[in-house]
Amino acid sequence: MNQKALWNLSYGVYIVSVWDGERPTGCVVNSAMQITAEPATVAISVHHDNYTNGCIEKTGRFAITVLSEKTEPSIIGTFGFQTGKEINKFDSVKYDLKNDMPIVKDGCAYLVCEVINKMETSTHTVFLGKVLDADFISDEEPMTYSYYHKVIKGKSPKNAPTYIGVENETEENKLKEKRAKYVCSICGYEYTGDIPFEDLPEDYVCPVCGQPKSVFVKKE
Ligand SMILES: Cc1cc2nc3c(=O)[nH]c(=O)nc-3n(C[C@H](O)[C@H](O)[C@H](O)COP(=O)(O)O)c2cc1C
Repeated sequence: MNQKALWNLSYGVYIVSVWDGERPTGCVVNSAMQITAEPATVAISVHHDNYTNGCIEKTGRFAITVLSEKTEPSIIGTFGFQTGKEINKFDSVKYDLKNDMPIVKDGCAYLVCEVINKMETSTHTVFLGKVLDADFISDEEPMTYSYYHKVIKGKSPKNAPTYIGVENETEENKLKEKRAKYVCSICGYEYTGDIPFEDLPEDYVCPVCGQPKSVFVKKE
């Protein structure tokens, strides 16, 4: 099976945010979709190991910020590759409160939801949320998952439902893997620019997670 065919399913890129009791936190998800219009409901799929999962479980609420093509990619680095168990993600990201829920300012729309049902899978909880409030934040284009992969060259970490392990790579991709390349050891971003990686200035930072050039590792 070529599991990459599943990447042809279309998604967006979102921040699911929540309170942990004292502070706001959250994570990146691609798995958010509208389920019904009347009443407006949406579903999200959140990995059992994500700190965000337990916070949604406890509070019964979550918000979704729809990221745009202009959203600072380091927000995806912070929310998608680090855990709220260890850092306060909203320390470095500006947010507003809507219906008391934290909404990332650098997005194009938001939804505030109340959990009305959930379904367990072996790895993820699917939360069904009734939409209590929603509005635009800006008129920028929403970021699609395809844009994230093709333009930002972002990767999906293990807890994303769309994660593909090396064993599922196609033969063509396995050959590409053999070429020398530089990869960010923090978020997995692969440098593909025209300037040889070695010639980049020392103040070059990973465009996804904002970490310095020194964290990149050469892969053969
Ligand atoms: C582009 C992208 C899409 C992701 N989609 C999902 C998703 O749909 N569900 C999920 O559980 N994790 C997803 N993740 C992974 C979580 O965002 C990541 O594991 C995060 O570090 C969890 O943070 P937390 O422990 O603070 O909740 C995604 C990450 C990225 C970068």
